[in-house]
Amino acid sequence: MPGRELIGIEEQKQISEIFDSGSILFRHGFDNERGECYKVQEFEINFANYIGSNYSLALTSGTAALRVALAALSIGSGDEVIIPAFTFVATAEAVVESGAIPKCANINESLNIDPEGIEELITSRTKALIVVHMLGVPCELTKLKEICQKNNIFLIEDTAWGCGGSYKNKKLGTWGDVGAFSFDFAKTITTGEGGMAIFQDKKVFHKAAAWHDHGHENNPNFARWEDTRSGSGFNFRMMELQGALGIAQLQKLDFVVQKQRENSEYIWASICDIEGIQRRAEPKDSISTADALIFSVATSDIALNVRQELLNNGISTKILPEAISWHFAGLWDHIPSLVNSSNGKLRESLNYSEKLLSKCISLPISINFNKSDLPKIKKSILKGLNK
Ligand SMILES: Cc1ncc(COP(=O)(O)O)c(C=O)c1O
Repeated sequence: MPGRELIGIEEQKQISEIFDSGSILFRHGFDNERGECYKVQEFEINFANYIGSNYSLALTSGTAALRVALAALSIGSGDEVIIPAFTFVATAEAVVESGAIPKCANINESLNIDPEGIEELITSRTKALIVVHMLGVPCELTKLKEICQKNNIFLIEDTAWGCGGSYKNKKLGTWGDVGAFSFDFAKTITTGEGGMAIFQDKKVFHKAAAWHDHGHENNPNFARWEDTRSGSGFNFRMMELQGALGIAQLQKLDFVVQKQRENSEYIWASICDIEGIQRRAEPKDSISTADALIFSVATSDIALNVRQELLNNGISTKILPEAISWHFAGLWDHIPSLVNSSNGKLRESLNYSEKLLSKCISLPISINFNKSDLPKIKKSILKGLNK
């Protein structure tokens, strides 16, 4: 919940500049009325520079970023896209909305997609693998990229939780053909609602830019109402107020990640000696955004006990174990194509992932962590473990 904790004078100043420069809330046009105020464009440029990419496109949400990624890579009806068992439902929804079929892969102890199980899901119809750096822990990107290259499929990084994290000194989101970010209110940085997609390939970027804007090519030789188009699209345009927030929040991103990592280590240092808890594994050479501190216990019943004790002491948990139904694909029998792609055995096929997830407890990490909560956290965990 971090970026939102820091919303303040810098965001206000950015927003004010819009109202001081003609109050133009649309990202395109009105050139004579807005001075030099193009906030969405500025946010895109700053984000691309920060992340180390040439092409970035601001969007209305992280879900939109995933949907645009699929459209830009020409993935649609009849194609198959592999997604992990542990993610938010948005990852599957984006695939379904594109007309493609989501297929689910198990996770491993890192709680991210298990590279070992992916190739057995690949068929001649598979077009992409979407990996998710769930709750900020980087996936094993070297292996995953190799699998994609070997099988000639696209790699899309769902970086909703990974903004500011890295793997082998390369920012998350820049490993895949497309990196999709979310700036919703719970994310590392926030624009209220919002997202960004970054691209490796110029042509794919141009296709995405047109597709997210009804097909508009924003051809500099024409006025917008006479603009050229070569395909239809949709509307996932970010608006200027979000762009302004993004500019201010981006300047805080490194601080957010550093502070979250510090606070997460601080909490862990005081609970790591408790017998019966095991911290979530992270890949070597990776920098997590530390959006949550996750540990597992011996059984799902104990996990629920620990959560209850935490709640009793006024401490909340984040996603695990309480919100598993929105984040574990094995329970998404409301998505028929997901059920069909596992031959009707969706939950069964993801049994291993469910077992791992149901034993986990996830503590939210905040920047303004109150150190006086620490004894309560420790006491609750001990009590939940019957110690
Ligand atoms: C893993 C993951 N992907 C995608 C999204 C979608 O992001 P948004 O809420 O910006 O649409 C979320 C949101 O929580 C998420 O957790």
